[in-house]
Amino acid sequence: MLILGIETTCDETSCSVVKDGVEILSNVISSQIDLHKEFGGVVPELACRRHIDVIVPVLQEALAVAGCTLQDIDAIAVAKGPGLIGALLIGLHFAKSLAWSLGLPLIGVNHIEAHLYAAIMSHPSPQLPALGVVLSGGHTSIVGMQDIGQYCLLGETIDDAIGESFDKLAKMMGLPYPGGPYIEKAALSGDSSRFGFKPGRVKANALDFSFSGIKTSVLYTIRDMPKPLSEQDICDISASFQKAVFTDVQQKMAIALEKGSYKAIYLGGGVTQNKALRAHLAKTHSLPIFWPKSDLCLDNAAMIAGLGFHKEPLASYDLDPETRIPFTRTQIA
Ligand code: KG4
Ligand code: ZN
Repeated sequence: MLILGIETTCDETSCSVVKDGVEILSNVISSQIDLHKEFGGVVPELACRRHIDVIVPVLQEALAVAGCTLQDIDAIAVAKGPGLIGALLIGLHFAKSLAWSLGLPLIGVNHIEAHLYAAIMSHPSPQLPALGVVLSGGHTSIVGMQDIGQYCLLGETIDDAIGESFDKLAKMMGLPYPGGPYIEKAALSGDSSRFGFKPGRVKANALDFSFSGIKTSVLYTIRDMPKPLSEQDICDISASFQKAVFTDVQQKMAIALEKGSYKAIYLGGGVTQNKALRAHLAKTHSLPIFWPKSDLCLDNAAMIAGLGFHKEPLASYDLDPETRIPFTRTQIA
C-alpha cells in the first residue's frame, strides 16, 4: 500500500511516499532555516507563506523520486498537529483537497507520535513494550509504548522543550539558528565541568522536565562574563549545558525503566541527531536503543506516511488541527 505523507507543522515542508509503513520511496524536505535564521527563531507568518510557495513543487519532487504518480497513491496521511496553527492549516487543507479531488482516503497523524514511529520504521520488527522518548524543538516527553497507537505519558516538560532550550542558549551566545548542531559542535572543544548548570526538578512528578531554570542560570552566567565571550567560553558553556541536560534525560529514563517492564528504548525528534546524546545513553542504558535514521530525526513526511499505514482513515474529509499530544498521563508510583 502506497501512502503519500504531508508534513507542515513548523518550518519544514515535506512530502513522502512510503510503502506498507516502512519502505521509504521518497522523503523530500524543504527546510526554511535560511528564512528564519536572521530572526533567531521561526516567524510563523513567514513559515506559512513559504509552505504555500513550496508545497506543490515538494509534492511533485516526492512523486518523481518515488517513480509514481498521484494515480498510484492509495491514501494520504497528513500531520494534524501539534504545531504552528497557520502552518498546520496549510498542510491540512492541501491534503484534504488532494484526497477529496482524487477520492482517496485521508488519514490524520499526530506529529509527536510520528517522531517515535520514526525510530520504529528505521529498524525491522519493533520490540514492544518499549520506553519512548521524544526530544524535539517543541516537545520533551517520556512515554510507555505498549504498542503502536497505545501509549501512556510518564513525563513531559512543564516549560521549555529540550530543543528549544538549545536554540535559546545558542541565541544568547550569538550562535546561528537552529542552535542544537552549533552547541553540539562547540561542546566538543569545551570543558563540561567548568559550570555547574542544573536542570530543574519537578516535585509533583519525578519524570517531568523543566528547562527554563537552566536557561536563566546560563543567562546570568553570561551576563557576568567579560564580553564578547571568547571561543573557549562558548565551548565550555555549551559542554556544561549539554552534559547537564543529557544527564537529566538519562536519569529520568533510568527511573522510568526501573519502574516499568520494557524490552527496548525508542527515541525520536531533532535532538536525537546529537552524537554526544547517543554516546551518553548507549553507555548508561543496557536495553537495546533504537534511534531514527538521520533523515528521520528532524521533521519529515516519511514518519507521517509510515505511521499513517497503522491508522484508520477518516470517515469524511473533515479534519481539524489537533493541539494535544496523543498520550494519556499515568503517574508512576
Ligand atoms: O523535531 P524537530 O525537527 O522539531 C520539532 O518537532 O520541534 O527538532 C528541531 C530541534 C531544534 O530545536 C534543534 O536545535 C534541535 O532539534 N537539534 C539539535 C541537534 N540538531 C537539531 N539539538 C541538539 N543537538 C543537535 N545536533
Ligand atoms: Zn517535530
